[in-house]
Amino acid sequence: MHSYSLVAPAKINLYLEIIGDRHDGFHELVMILQSIELADRVDLKSSDTQKIHVYCNHPQVPTDETNLAYRAAKLMCDAFPDVYANYGGVSIRIEKNIPVAAGLAGGSADAAAVLVGINMMWELGLTQPELQELAAKLGSDIPFCVSGGTAIATGRGEKLDGIKDLDNLWVVLAKYNNISVSTPWAYQTYRQQYSDSYVSDAAGIKSRTAKVHSSPLVHAISNQQASTIGKLLHNDLEKVVLPEYPQVNELRSAFATTHILGTMMSGSGPTVFALCESEAQAIAAKKQVRAIITDPQLNFWVTKLSSSGIEIRAQI
Ligand code: C5P
Repeated sequence: MHSYSLVAPAKINLYLEIIGDRHDGFHELVMILQSIELADRVDLKSSDTQKIHVYCNHPQVPTDETNLAYRAAKLMCDAFPDVYANYGGVSIRIEKNIPVAAGLAGGSADAAAVLVGINMMWELGLTQPELQELAAKLGSDIPFCVSGGTAIATGRGEKLDGIKDLDNLWVVLAKYNNISVSTPWAYQTYRQQYSDSYVSDAAGIKSRTAKVHSSPLVHAISNQQASTIGKLLHNDLEKVVLPEYPQVNELRSAFATTHILGTMMSGSGPTVFALCESEAQAIAAKKQVRAIITDPQLNFWVTKLSSSGIEIRAQI
């Protein structure tokens, strides 16, 4: 049996609109999700222990059954018990490059890599839609992480429609080491403050979804109009996260003073990104923001948008 080394790219949200409540307790969303080249490396091999082992070089990442990558392997073991019994346990080694608890789907990307990798390692022959159906059981962003690129996500975030790839632009990501935002907290707070604008019945959700404001951005992406894309970035969760985390708000304001296409918080934050036309523009924006905010807890990453989801780095 082969071992696999996979590339697990992070994502940013170019658009996040909250439509209302769902019966499963989640929120009905319309998002535009975008893969970026910043990626974890996930190495998978079989072990003869009949157990799942997770190793990670990042001290903040748990290696027990709470790790999403562990849960992805467990899901495969439970779904295919005969194959699992035949092949034995799975060893998962994660090299973390994506910032943790950052709104960049780092944990989701690792879990997606485990699903894709075990499918190959055990020669299960699952198709991408079949893998994405399994992925949706683990988390809302994981189906997107499997296929990557640029996509419109609806429902909980698991229903995907591909749009033209937007892989020629760059981003600067910025995140404070010492700030993390709980995603459930962000959604709950939004519910407390904005539930009067929510719809919760199926008919209401359908008609409200027809009135979402994402169409101009989808159109701009289809036509690759970089400056329009930058102006139409939108994230409803900024309304609750930015007032609660003034440093994140100041970071966003600092980027807004630089020469970029647009700036926004990704997902539930606290990462702020600046969308840029070129690597040179991204590096210049990073330098300018670093001159405004000298706090050593603030870290930056310059990376390119990507059209790739999970990819095999090497087969050993
Ligand atoms: O699906 P995932 O585990 O990524 O979601 C994390 C949390 O974000 C959920 O527990 C829920 O509180 C919130 N969430 C939501 N509606 C969504 C996606 C996530 O309320 N569509």
